[in-house]
Amino acid sequence: MVGRAVALADPAGRRYGRRTGAAGVTTPVQDDCVLETIGLTKEFGGFVAVRGVDLRIRRGSVHALIGPNGAGKTTCFNLLTRFLAPTSGRILFKGRDVTAMRPADVARLGLGRSFQISAVFPHLTALQNVRLGLQSARGASLDFWRSASVLDGLNARAMSLLEDVGLADLAQREAIELSYGRKRALEFATTLALDPELLLLDEPTAGMGREDIDRIVRLIRKASADRTILMVEHNLSVVADLSDAITVLMRGQVLAEGDYATISADPAVQEAYLGAPDV
Ligand SMILES: Nc1ncnc2c1ncn2[C@@H]1O[C@H](COP(=O)(O)OP(=O)(O)OP(=O)(O)O)[C@@H](O)[C@H]1O
Ligand SMILES: [Mg+2]
Repeated sequence: MVGRAVALADPAGRRYGRRTGAAGVTTPVQDDCVLETIGLTKEFGGFVAVRGVDLRIRRGSVHALIGPNGAGKTTCFNLLTRFLAPTSGRILFKGRDVTAMRPADVARLGLGRSFQISAVFPHLTALQNVRLGLQSARGASLDFWRSASVLDGLNARAMSLLEDVGLADLAQREAIELSYGRKRALEFATTLALDPELLLLDEPTAGMGREDIDRIVRLIRKASADRTILMVEHNLSVVADLSDAITVLMRGQVLAEGDYATISADPAVQEAYLGAPDV
């Protein structure tokens, strides 16, 4: 039997991959990297938005991609999910070269994303939005969905996801009626419905007030228990709170990498990213 990779946390909160064998014996995994890019580059008509980016995202970690506006973070996400084709470079997901794969196939392999701008169906209810996510995760034929027991199960799971994001009371509301923060929470639930192994979050707390931010941080932490998360985030206290590892992008290139203490002490990051002596 092939062992299952799980993420463990040591007392200091660091995570590392381990493989549990058939006999229950754990041995460290050499290839604990779920996503890797090699020389990832994207040009837009001569302008290089992403230049030679090497990323290594460890299985089970929360990895933040930060950097000033226009650094190339969203472009990187679009490359990773294959919404954009790289000009050069390679993307390996779970050891497979997905550089030329179609977006739907990469998603099926377990790479899910949320968007910088909220992306839910405005005229579907919150429940319907989450149910659609669950349906596309199951990928079965329409006939299959007509079975009452399947629909009941789906509704129950959708309601439980809505409860997780604090939207159970608003399940029957159309998404368009929800506040911005709640729309983002709904989008988070629809992305979680896909149950991705690697979850990409583009500015999950953008435009949110304190209360909504606290809720999203709790959700991300909970979601990180059994998956890897790569997130773009401008709010540095959120980054400090959640991240095991951070990559700083600047003008399309990797400027620095490390944990929050390392990054925040890096003079190049302080100067180039923030233009100030303290992060
Ligand atoms: N389709 C495109 N065509 C031309 N230029 C683009 C395109 N998409 C992005 N860019 C440019 O590439 C650079 C990187 O943009 P990107 O959206 O990746 O930055 P970002 O780090 O996500 O910024 P922000 O923090 O503002 O979201 C910017 O200069 C942007 O104008
Ligand atoms: Mg962006």
